[in-house]
Amino acid sequence: MKKLFFISLFSACVFINPLIAQNNSESMDKKIEEIIKQLTLKEKLDMCHAQSKFSSKGVARLGIPELWMSDGPHGVRAEIEWDTWNHAQWTNDSCTAFPALTCLAATFNPDLSYKYGKAIGQEARYRKKDVLLGPGVNIYRTPLNGRNFEYMGEDPYLASKMVVPYIHGVQENGVAACVKHYVLNNQEHWRDHINVELSDRALYEIYLPAFKAAVQEGKVWSIMGAYNQFRGQYCCHNELLVNKILKKDWAFDGTLITDWGATHNTKQAALYGLDIEMGTGTDGLTSSSKNAYDNYYLANPLRKMIENGEIEESVVDDKVRRILRLMFRTSMNKSRPFGSMNSQEHFDIAREIAQEGIVLLKNEDNFFPIDPKTTKTIAIIGENATKVMTLGGGSSELKTIHEISPLQGFQERFTNANILHAMGYSSGPSVYGRVIPSKLNAKSLRSQAVKIASQADMVLYVGGLNKNHHQDCEGDDRLQFELPFEQEKLLSEILKVNKNTALILVSGNAVEMPWISKVKAIAQVWYLGSEAGHAIADIISGDVNPSGKLPFTFPVKLEDNAAHSFGKLSYPGDGKNQEYKEDILVGYRWHDTKNIKPLFEFGFGLSYTNFDITNTSSDKNTYHSNDTISISCEIKNTGKVDGKETIQIYAKDKSSSVLRPSKELKGFKKINLRAGESKTIQIKIPVKKLSFFDDTNMNWKLEKGEFQFLIGTSSRNIYQSIDIKVE
Ligand code: GLC
Repeated sequence: MKKLFFISLFSACVFINPLIAQNNSESMDKKIEEIIKQLTLKEKLDMCHAQSKFSSKGVARLGIPELWMSDGPHGVRAEIEWDTWNHAQWTNDSCTAFPALTCLAATFNPDLSYKYGKAIGQEARYRKKDVLLGPGVNIYRTPLNGRNFEYMGEDPYLASKMVVPYIHGVQENGVAACVKHYVLNNQEHWRDHINVELSDRALYEIYLPAFKAAVQEGKVWSIMGAYNQFRGQYCCHNELLVNKILKKDWAFDGTLITDWGATHNTKQAALYGLDIEMGTGTDGLTSSSKNAYDNYYLANPLRKMIENGEIEESVVDDKVRRILRLMFRTSMNKSRPFGSMNSQEHFDIAREIAQEGIVLLKNEDNFFPIDPKTTKTIAIIGENATKVMTLGGGSSELKTIHEISPLQGFQERFTNANILHAMGYSSGPSVYGRVIPSKLNAKSLRSQAVKIASQADMVLYVGGLNKNHHQDCEGDDRLQFELPFEQEKLLSEILKVNKNTALILVSGNAVEMPWISKVKAIAQVWYLGSEAGHAIADIISGDVNPSGKLPFTFPVKLEDNAAHSFGKLSYPGDGKNQEYKEDILVGYRWHDTKNIKPLFEFGFGLSYTNFDITNTSSDKNTYHSNDTISISCEIKNTGKVDGKETIQIYAKDKSSSVLRPSKELKGFKKINLRAGESKTIQIKIPVKKLSFFDDTNMNWKLEKGEFQFLIGTSSRNIYQSIDIKVE
C-alpha cells in the first residue's frame, strides 16, 4: 500500500510539474494582461524609458517597483549618481572584479562560464540590481577595436557555447542578463552612428549566432541594442534586426533595451521593437542632462502621436507586456535568492577562471615555470606590473575590494627570490575620452629599468596595453598595432643587457611582436581582475599548469588581418558607411582560407606537459541531415605533470557549391589528464550544423557531399582528420 502511495505521489509530481510550469507562464501572462488594463497611457510610457541614469519607472500606484540596471560584464559597477555619470561615493559598493570576457572565452570551459555567471549574478542580486548589462558577444573583427576585451573572440561557435552558461548563471539569481551589443558593434570608432553594410551570409553565419544562442538556448531576458546603424536604420529600432529576426524568427519574449543614447527617432522606436529607452542625451559615457526624461523619444513625443491617432496604443502595450514579464522574472519575482557579495568563494572563482584563461604562447628552454624556491635575482619591469586595471576601460570599470597586482603576486609567491622592480615606462592617467601623457621622464624610467635588468638573473617584463583611451577602452579604437608607450624601445634595451627575458602581456587584444625571436617566453594574461597577481603567480610558479587557448588570431602584422585588407571602407569606414568586405572570412577563417600564416592561431595555447591524440573515428561514414555525428578520439598526457587540454574539431566542406571557409570550429572539449593518463572522449556534432546560410532563399542549406573533420589542439595543430559523407 505504502509503495503504491509513493508511486502515485511521484507520478503526480512528475505529471503535474510541467502543468505547473505552464501554469506559471500562463498565470504570469494573465496577470500581465490584468495589469495592462489598469494602466494609464502615461504610466505605460513611463515604463518605456529611463527615469535616471540606470533605472526606469514601475507603477507606484499599483505597487509595481522600478527597474534597476547596472554595468557590467566583469563585475557590478559602483553606484552611479541619479542623473550624472559620477560615482555616488557609496562606501559599501565595492565588488569582486572577475576576469575580462576574453579570458573567460580563452578557458574554452563552459562550466567555468556558468560559475562566472552565477557568482556575478549573486553580486548583482545583492546590490539589488534587476538587470546586469552584460555579457557582450560582439565578434572580434579587428585587433584595433577598443572593446574586444569585453567580448568572447572571433568565432561564433565558441562565443555561442560560452555565452549560454553565463546567462543561466546570472538569471538563476532573479537578475536579467542583457546580452550586448545587438549587433555589428565591432569597433568603437564612430560607434554612435556608423552604418554597417555586409552580406546576409556574413550576418547570419558570423555576427548573429552568439545572440541567437543567447535567446534560444540561454533564454536571455533582455538584449541591448547597439549604437551603430545597419543598412540605414539604427540597431535599437531596426525593422529587420528587431521585429523580424529577434522577436519573430527567434521568438525572443524579453525586453530590448537601448545602449545609452542610442535612440534617434520616435516613430521608429515605437514601431521597430524598442522597449526601454535609456541614456538619451548622452553618447555613452559623456553626459548632458538637457534631455529631461519627459523629452525622451518614447515619452511625450510618443504620447502626442498616440493621442493624435498616428500610432496605436497597442504598440505601447507590447512594450509594457515585455517589461512586465522582465519584472515578474526579476523585481517582482518573489522566490529569487538574496545574493552574496565579495565572498571568498567569489574571489576563488575569479582566480580559477583567471588560471584557466591564461595562454602560454612561447616557452623556450622551459623558461616557465620558475621554481618558487629560487633564490635568484628576478627583475620585474613594466608599468603593468603595478597598474590598476579594474579602473578605466569605460562602462566595464569596477571599484573592487582588492586587485592583486602582478608584482604583488610574484612577491608573495617567490619569497626566496631577490625581486627588483622598475616601472620602465609610464602611460599617463586613465581618463575617459582623452589621452593625458605622463609627466615622468621616459629616458630616466628606461635607464632605471635597464640597470636592474643588467643586475638580474632573469627579467619578467610585464607590459602590454591598458584601459586608457585609445587602448583597451570603450569610446574609441587603438591607434597602432604595436605596443604603445615606447615599449619596443624599452624591450630592445633590456634585451641588450639580459637575454634571459620573458614577457607577461596584460592586454585584451593582439599586438605586434617584432621582438618575439629575442624573448624566451610569453604568457598572455588578459585583464584578470581582483585575483590577477595571484593567478599569474600560480601559472608562472607551476602551481597551476596553463591551459588557456586563444579566442582570436594574433596576426604577424595588421595588414594580414581580414578587416584591414580592403582599405578604409572596410575599416574604420568613411565616416558614414562601412562595408565588411571580408564577408564570412573573419579571423582564422581568413588566415586559413587565404593561407596567411598567423603569429599565433585561434585555439593555440601551450602547456607544461605534452599530449597526443590518436584513434580518431566517427560512428558512421555516411550521415543524413537529421543525424548527429559522434567523433571519438583518444588523448594521452605524455608528459610529467598533470594538465588540461582542449580538443577542437573543425569541419571542412569539400564539395560546396559556394565559397566556404577552409575550416570552421564545430566542437570542442576540455579535459583534465594526470601525467601518463589517457582518456577516450566523444564529441557530438548535429549534421545540420554543417549547413551554410544560403542568401538566395534566406535560409540555412545543407548540401550533400564530402566533409572532412580536423581534430586538433588548435586551428592549425591538427593531429588527424576524418572523411565522412552527407547523403
Ligand atoms: C555604454 C556602453 C554599454 C553600457 C552603457 C551603460 O555606452 O556601450 O555597454 O552598458 O553605456 O553604461
